[in-house]
Amino acid sequence: MRPVQAAFPAARFRRLRRTEALRDLVQEHRLTVKDLIWPVFIRDGKGIEEPVASMPGVNRLSLDRLLSAAERAHKLGIPAICLFPYTDPSVKTETCEEAWNPENLTNRAIRALKAELPDLAIMTDVALDPYNANGHDGLVRDGVILNDESVEALVRMTLVQADSGADIIGPSDMMDGRIGAMRAALESAGHKDVAILSYAAKYASAFYGPFRDAVGASGALKGDKKTYQMNPGNSDEAIRLIERDLREGADMVMVKPGMPYLDICRRVKDTFGVPTYAYQVSGEYAMIQGAAERGWIDGKKAMVESLLGFKRAGCDGILTYFAPAVAKLLDSAA
Ligand code: PBG
Repeated sequence: MRPVQAAFPAARFRRLRRTEALRDLVQEHRLTVKDLIWPVFIRDGKGIEEPVASMPGVNRLSLDRLLSAAERAHKLGIPAICLFPYTDPSVKTETCEEAWNPENLTNRAIRALKAELPDLAIMTDVALDPYNANGHDGLVRDGVILNDESVEALVRMTLVQADSGADIIGPSDMMDGRIGAMRAALESAGHKDVAILSYAAKYASAFYGPFRDAVGASGALKGDKKTYQMNPGNSDEAIRLIERDLREGADMVMVKPGMPYLDICRRVKDTFGVPTYAYQVSGEYAMIQGAAERGWIDGKKAMVESLLGFKRAGCDGILTYFAPAVAKLLDSAA
């Protein structure tokens, strides 16, 4: 596409920027509440809203508080929430069995949410890190993160989440071959309509720091995740990973983190034209909130601008901790 443009003064770009009405009319991309997936940290207990120090405004919620927060989010029109459990260190093991315990926090939360709010889509995280004594997303033997054994564990975890009522399975582990294994297992278990949103292009990023605090994995993590998450210097590899996951049966794909990887979002959307999501991760949220708290930027404006950037880059939706705040803002502007 090559828009034809007259020369100055016949063409004056400022004509269409003169008033808010004119600016609105010609706006190319828009953020709506329907673009949002809200990641929520959950924990055991009752009546608890425990602040996450490195994520101002974000709390770990006990299940009763989760239900009321989810109901508010649903009323605001947010279509989906994604659950991340804070796991007590006492249940973390090297073998991670808690990950596929039908009574674990996540599975109890899915069932409770589905009973109260059947129309709210529930996405889950599939990776072993909340349950792993060493903080890794896969099983570890002699310091090596095992691929195929981890995939078996992740499949078990997936099936239990699907049994509990999850609508969207979100594998964030970056093991090879997991999407095909999960799809096949879901099909043969009768969960043919459970969707997979693959964290297909997930980079080994410094921006996950606050999240690891929130789920209590920072202390546990030994080493780094560079043997399974992507090198931030790569772009073609992201395209190959997305294609691989689509061929294995992913219904939707994700790029993560978001803001430093908007070029990847655009390439993915242009290349495949599939439902494409970005995760505006904990460190991105913390940067905006941290600067806003100090009065260095206008937090609300920076929030909206950062999210609009994802739409402009071709994303169909965004996982963001700002979801309730931005939904309220959009609601009051309507
Ligand atoms: C782990 C997982 C991570 C995030 C989502 N799932 C962290 C990691 O890979 O270490 C990060 C989300 C965020 O930073 O907001 N499976």
